[in-house]
Amino acid sequence: MSTVPDINLNDGNAIPQLGFGVFQIDPDETAEAVIEALKVGYRHIDTAEMYGNEREVGEGIRASGLDRADVFITSKLNNSYHDPDDARRAFDETLSDLGYDYVDLFLIHWPLPTLYDGDFVSTWQTMEEFKADGRARSIGVSNFQVDHLERLAAETETVPAVNQIEVHPYFTNEAVRAYGQEHGIATEAWSPIAQGGVLEDSTITRIADNVGKTPAQVVLRWHIQRGDIIFPKSVTPSRIQENFEIFDFELGSGDMEEISGLDQGEDGRTGPHPDTFDKVPS
Ligand SMILES: NC(=O)c1ccc[n+]([C@@H]2O[C@H](COP(=O)([O-])OP(=O)(O)OC[C@H]3O[C@@H](n4cnc5c(N)ncnc54)[C@H](OP(=O)(O)O)[C@@H]3O)[C@@H](O)[C@H]2O)c1
Repeated sequence: MSTVPDINLNDGNAIPQLGFGVFQIDPDETAEAVIEALKVGYRHIDTAEMYGNEREVGEGIRASGLDRADVFITSKLNNSYHDPDDARRAFDETLSDLGYDYVDLFLIHWPLPTLYDGDFVSTWQTMEEFKADGRARSIGVSNFQVDHLERLAAETETVPAVNQIEVHPYFTNEAVRAYGQEHGIATEAWSPIAQGGVLEDSTITRIADNVGKTPAQVVLRWHIQRGDIIFPKSVTPSRIQENFEIFDFELGSGDMEEISGLDQGEDGRTGPHPDTFDKVPS
C-alpha cells in the first residue's frame, strides 16, 4: 500500500507528493526504470518532451500492468514550441508519444523571457485550452520567477497549479516558494538532492547518522516536511527503493532549520538562471 501523501492543487486535483523523475535517463533505459519505480510503489512520473523519453515512459507504465488512472503523469512543453500553433502540435505529439489521451499535468518548461518577444502569456493561454478540453487535467509552469508569475496573474485567467523550480539545501529558492504559497501555487522541487551534490555535506551526513537514514533520505524528507513535491531520479534499483523509504521517520525542527541554513543563495544554484536561459533544441 502506498504511503505517499497527496498534495491538493488549486484546481481540485491531487498529486502524489513523491514521484519519479526521468531527466537524463537514456530512452533505452527509461521503460525499465519506470517499471522498477512503479514496482517499488511510485505512482507519479515526471517527464518532458525535451527529455526524449516520453514514448518509453508510456511503454513502462503499460508494461507495469497498472491502470492509466493509477499513475500521475507530468510532461512539459519543449522550448522550441512556445508559439501557440506549435504548442498545440507539440502537445498532440506528447500525448501520441506517451500513448495516452490525457496527461495529469502539463507545464511550460521554461519561461524564456528573452525569446518569443518575451511573450509567455500567449503560450500560457494555449495551455489553458489544453485544460479546457480535458487533455491536460492540470496545467502549470516551470522555472517561473516571481515577476513571470505576477505577469500571468495580471494578464490571464488561470493561476498555475504548480511551479516546478530548482530547490535543494544549497539553493532553497525561498522567494519563489513564498510567492507560490501565498497564491495557491504548489512548489515542485527539481534536482531535490542537487544531482547528488549535497549528499556529502557534513551537516547532512551527521543528521543522517543520528536518525539512522541515508543522506539522500534525509534531504528528501526535508523537502517533504517543507511541503514541496519531489521526484528524485535514479536508474539504480537500490536507490529507487531508498528514495521511496522516507515516510517512516521525521526530522525535528532543529534538523530542519540546520538543513535550510545550508542555503547559499544564488551561489548554490546548479542549473541555468530562468531570466537568461534561452536554449532551444534544434
Ligand atoms: N523543470 C526543470 O527544468 C527540471 C530540471 C531538472 C530536473 N527536473 C526534474 O527533476 C527530476 C530530479 O532532478 P535531477 O534528475 O536533476 O536530479 P536529482 O534527482 O537531484 O539527482 C539525480 C542524481 O542523483 C543520483 N541519485 C539518486 N538517488 C540517489 C541516492 N539515494 N544516493 C546517491 N545518489 C543518488 C542519481 O544517480 P543514478 O541515476 O546513477 O542512480 C542521479 O545522478 C528530474 O529527473 C526531472 O524530472 C526538472
